[in-house]
Amino acid sequence: MIVYSNKPTRALKAHVRSRKLKICAFASLVLVLLVLGYFRSSSSSATNSELRLSKVEYPRLWQTVIDAGGQGGRWYIPPSWLTDAPALPHSLKRDPTTTLEAAELAFYLVRSQSRDINGSTIPLIVHQTVASTDPKVWPVNVPQYVESWLSMCQGQKLSGQVTATEHEMAYILWDDDGVNEMMTKYEQNHFLNCYEAMPMSVEKVDIFRVAVLRWFGGVYSDIDTEPLRHPATWIEPMDIQPWEDELDNSTYSLPKSSQATIYPAPTNSYPQYLELCKLSSRRRRKPESSDLVGAIVGIEADLPPDRDDYWRAGYGFPLQITQWTIALTPHHPLAV
Ligand SMILES: *[C@@H]1O[C@H](CO)[C@@H](O)[C@H](O)[C@H]1NC(C)=O
Ligand SMILES: *[C@@H]1O[C@H](CO)[C@@H](O)[C@H](O)[C@H]1NC(C)=O
Repeated sequence: MIVYSNKPTRALKAHVRSRKLKICAFASLVLVLLVLGYFRSSSSSATNSELRLSKVEYPRLWQTVIDAGGQGGRWYIPPSWLTDAPALPHSLKRDPTTTLEAAELAFYLVRSQSRDINGSTIPLIVHQTVASTDPKVWPVNVPQYVESWLSMCQGQKLSGQVTATEHEMAYILWDDDGVNEMMTKYEQNHFLNCYEAMPMSVEKVDIFRVAVLRWFGGVYSDIDTEPLRHPATWIEPMDIQPWEDELDNSTYSLPKSSQATIYPAPTNSYPQYLELCKLSSRRRRKPESSDLVGAIVGIEADLPPDRDDYWRAGYGFPLQITQWTIALTPHHPLAV
């Protein structure tokens, strides 16, 4: 899977056969205790209040989150994308002041410049949410994860897999105010009532993650995830080849359509958004025949439906998809 969560999965065993090995065993025990201590501290609600985040270790976190201003959260838009857009629609600012303005700018730039995950129409935008943009109140490890997402969005290599600038992504970190502003303006005629009826902030954010992908598209990933593989490379040629299902011997394939998976926005959308859709689609420059993938999801559970394994494993359904990382093209039917 593409993202990892920090739960311990391996057990360590020490076989003591001689004196020499006893020393080893003792060292292992110390290691196990250290590892347990590490996981205990990371799974508790410990935060970074006492942690000093050095500018050397977290340069991008400092530049984009700590030292930057902005209402509704923080963002990074690759400067080269702006250089490639000599003229912007009147409603957009080159220097956004709110997360919503940043998302609108990113949306226009990705669409007009066809900056998508290869093989798809999923825009190269990452969305994450936090209650507050002050890293001191984040759980431990999260500053490091955000640094890693930012580094990836700036075209840096992730364990040597990804080449530079071609894979830059926009990054938008929405805080509670940003989430509210987006929902109020964009979901006015849609799910705003539902959103407002949710008593808890985590439930609101569960709705937001789908809504934000519905309007702007891209990758949503929980703030406590770390990217292990660049989203631009999530689709490999083999993934879109026809395949045979062993259960029913049928062959499945993506539709042989000459149309890319571009879904229209509803006519009662936020007016400025409809205008951006119109202006950006006029400038799309890629041939649309190869971009067939519109959604990428993770499988959380895939167990036999006719046995009790799934509920014994704690799942409500035999097949479940994750909601902590989802990638969608705007207005994909999964999000509507
Ligand atoms: C993009 O995807 C196509 C089809 O899967 C593949 O042939 C091509 O090499 C990919 N390009 C990059 C830059 O990954
Ligand atoms: C699928 O094909 C295999 C081998 O050809 C055969 O043994 C099996 O019964 C087939 N399954 C179904 C569901 O038709």
